[in-house]
Amino acid sequence: MSSSDSATRVVSGMRPTGRLHLGHYHGVLKNWVRLQYEFDCYFFVADWHALTTAYENPEDISRHTFDVAVDWLAAGLNPGSSTIFVQSRVPEHAELHLLLSMITPLSWLERVPSYKDQQQKLNDKDLATYGFLGYPLLQAADILIYRAGHVPVGADQVAHVELTREVARRFNHIYGKEAGFEEMAEAAITRLGKKNGRLYKESRRAYLEQGDSEALERARALLAGQQNLSIGDTERLFGYLEGGGRIILPEPQALINEAARVPGLDGEKMSKSYNNTIQLREEPGMVEEKVRTMKTDPARARRKDPGNPDKCPVFALHQLYSSKDQIALSNEGCRSASIGCLDCKKPLIDSINAEQAQMRERAKQFEEDPDLVSSILQEGSEAARAMARETLEDVREAIGLG
Ligand code: TRP
Ligand code: SF4
Repeated sequence: MSSSDSATRVVSGMRPTGRLHLGHYHGVLKNWVRLQYEFDCYFFVADWHALTTAYENPEDISRHTFDVAVDWLAAGLNPGSSTIFVQSRVPEHAELHLLLSMITPLSWLERVPSYKDQQQKLNDKDLATYGFLGYPLLQAADILIYRAGHVPVGADQVAHVELTREVARRFNHIYGKEAGFEEMAEAAITRLGKKNGRLYKESRRAYLEQGDSEALERARALLAGQQNLSIGDTERLFGYLEGGGRIILPEPQALINEAARVPGLDGEKMSKSYNNTIQLREEPGMVEEKVRTMKTDPARARRKDPGNPDKCPVFALHQLYSSKDQIALSNEGCRSASIGCLDCKKPLIDSINAEQAQMRERAKQFEEDPDLVSSILQEGSEAARAMARETLEDVREAIGLG
């Protein structure tokens, strides 16, 4: 593994906060399920991150880790297509976090917006801790240890990916320097062969002299296709493209989920803390009851009052669950008062239950046999460790701890 594989690798994590709901599914999981067939994906339960805020009552963390893993599997994450694991089972994350902490200025962490925001929001907890300040740096280690090129996250996490990029850049700047770098890079170019060597040089010049970023992409793609270069040469050639030294830790990009805003039962954003959720794997009768009593446009106080679907959270759910025809039926029926709210809700209940039936079905074997889940997480953690160890070896060597 080297920096050249980074374009194909995806990493993301989720804190184990308890059973997941439709908001998680449409906002995050559906996207992960798709990505696992397109990229080399690493998805993990961030139990150490949970501990940064729940350190006084950690007793739920391991149960929640299990529940989250079952929800992931139920939603369609497939251990044959993605590596699914638990952060604390891969202690390499912690060693990289420690090493990165040596080069990370305190001010970088203090100015991450979530630091002060969360301290204020969770003001019943004492979050003036070392661990909480380091939350985004631990996240940087989670990402960099797999040399991931892409990190699917919500908009609230973009600042953390940005910090990750800055830390990687600083690491490469400090530890990517080596005596005779330029000579070694030039020698590596000759090992690309005549044609590719020329292409590399042309692209490099176009980028360095004219800022041609497409040329940079072309050269990177060329390097990514080289099977026979050593890791050292690959890192040098990646670094040489941009001037400096070797690229030991490539900078990741955030893949921002266009946050599907899933409304909760009360019309606010669906969230556990608002107590307005429909959970994954919820019983059909519960789904029915929750949707039947769900808030609608208050203008429809009586059956004969017309309503405005744009003001109704039920209609927002139809957008996620229903066919164009059904959406048109609800829209017109609501505005003309030709249907009642229960008529409108019925097909939605059916669609949610059809989707959930599949998830309940997938979850069944895992609920009945928790050891199966443990062994999936165990195997995933071992596979992740093997990858993480390789990065850590390069990191140790670059620092001089080899
Ligand atoms: N902080 C993320 C969240 O709260 C969870 C997380 C931890 C994460 N490590 C990560 C996400 C690494 C992406 C990559 O949602
Ligand atoms: Fe909402 Fe449908 Fe009732 Fe209109 S008819 S208010 S869209 S539930």
